[in-house]
Amino acid sequence: MRTRNGWRAGYIERCTSGSEGGSRKPAVAIQQGGGFLPYKTTSTINLAYGLARAKYRVLVIDSDAQSNSTYSLLGRLDSENTLADVLFSNARLADVIVGTKQPGLYLVPSSIDMSAADLIMASAPGRELKIKRALAPVISQFDYILIDTPPNLGVLTVNAFIACTHVIIPVALTTYALIGISILERTMQELRDNLDVTLPIFGVIGTLDDHTRMSSEVLTAIREHFGKLVFDTVIPRNIKIEEAHNQIASIYDYAPTSTGAQAYAKLTEEVIKRAKR
Ligand SMILES: Nc1ncnc2c1ncn2[C@@H]1O[C@H](COP(=O)(O)OP(=O)(O)O)[C@@H](O)[C@H]1O
Ligand SMILES: [Mg+2]
Repeated sequence: MRTRNGWRAGYIERCTSGSEGGSRKPAVAIQQGGGFLPYKTTSTINLAYGLARAKYRVLVIDSDAQSNSTYSLLGRLDSENTLADVLFSNARLADVIVGTKQPGLYLVPSSIDMSAADLIMASAPGRELKIKRALAPVISQFDYILIDTPPNLGVLTVNAFIACTHVIIPVALTTYALIGISILERTMQELRDNLDVTLPIFGVIGTLDDHTRMSSEVLTAIREHFGKLVFDTVIPRNIKIEEAHNQIASIYDYAPTSTGAQAYAKLTEEVIKRAKR
């Protein structure tokens, strides 16, 4: 659906808020993990680096008060000019976007203040729409927008669901994977019923593969359940992935020959191919 310089109509409808018309190039806004499944931050960061290295303009929005994406990309946490200012004080999103060491990769930082979002925003009018509305003026400046989310279904996760066009679901190939998926599916159903939000799944990432029988059984189960939505690339369990976060480095720079870097590079190619459909 997408070319480097333009978008075909069907996709544009899903990628914009509807009021922007078809002339501007919108972003694919992807929410990671649906909020509950683990490995959200890791898939956000590594896809974001991969897409930026492929010369796309990428925005990561860190909507988790734990600020792991923010720390992984910047190596510091700021108390000002964060998503909290946008959500609580109506700051413009454009004013809190910061660059990273990776050309083409930008970040809306999180703040620990956002841990009180559910309380602070409880009676705010249009509280579920804050991120979507704040994004509208900048959406055309990016090819991909990846939203990293908190682990619970609070006002921030609902904001992310409403702001994005698709979800990417990382699934650890371990015992509890299928429980997480059923919770996620129930939540997506509730969003459809209560808020009229229908979110297409962009893709399902099998991760933490340790080449055991358990891994391959869970992979088979998710392929049976999600079919072609499951990416061909499976991410291995690889310590370099964790180390790269701690080094505030891209896995592609920190350990380019590692199994983790190679898998995320292949996954990035699959994401690009799928977004063009
Ligand atoms: N493929 C992997 N191999 C090894 N460790 C991983 C892998 N993916 C993620 N991790 C580690 O697992 C932990 C949880 O992942 P994270 O992405 O932070 O989850 P979430 O953001 O959903 O809480 C992190 O310490 C991360 O570095
Ligand atoms: Mg996280």
